[in-house]
Amino acid sequence: MATITVNGIRREVNAPGDTPLLYVLRNDLELTGPQFGCGLAQCGACSILIDGKEVRSCITALSDVGENQEVTTLEGLPARWAKQKGIPAEEAKTTLHPVQQAWIEEQTPQCGFCQNGMIIKATELLESNPHPTLLQIKAAFTTSGLSPNLCRCGTYGAIIDAVNHAAQIMARG
Ligand code: FES
Ligand code: FES
Repeated sequence: MATITVNGIRREVNAPGDTPLLYVLRNDLELTGPQFGCGLAQCGACSILIDGKEVRSCITALSDVGENQEVTTLEGLPARWAKQKGIPAEEAKTTLHPVQQAWIEEQTPQCGFCQNGMIIKATELLESNPHPTLLQIKAAFTTSGLSPNLCRCGTYGAIIDAVNHAAQIMARG
């Protein structure tokens, strides 16, 4: 039995410590935003945030997550934004994270399979660098993690547009 904090809620998980966190999130906690792509930290589809840093949940063991660390999945991004902005709980239920809003407004996904990781990576970037340059955006998605975030549909140009759009929404608050 392990206790982890996911999207602001402490959860008891009855799984061996060497279980990949991705399996715990999807199978035990029914959080299906993170996707199983490669299982080898080579695509980014399974990405989540741990204490604000992008982590590949497919190669992260349940036992690697400390009780007091904050795991955020795609599902938890609206609440994360609401907490950062002090938005009341009731209003937060109908609030999207600006990155999610920008992704919708830019119609970024094609098949959508990789987009969980793209949104998580964009959130990590914009939380540390609210006004990234084009080169910084490209670097975030290619050289900042364990591997580039891969999109087999080739939505890379749309992702850059969405990151810039999200930065504008975040700047407005
Ligand atoms: S599924 Fe984890 S990086 Fe590809
Ligand atoms: S949108 Fe299809 S893999 Fe990226």
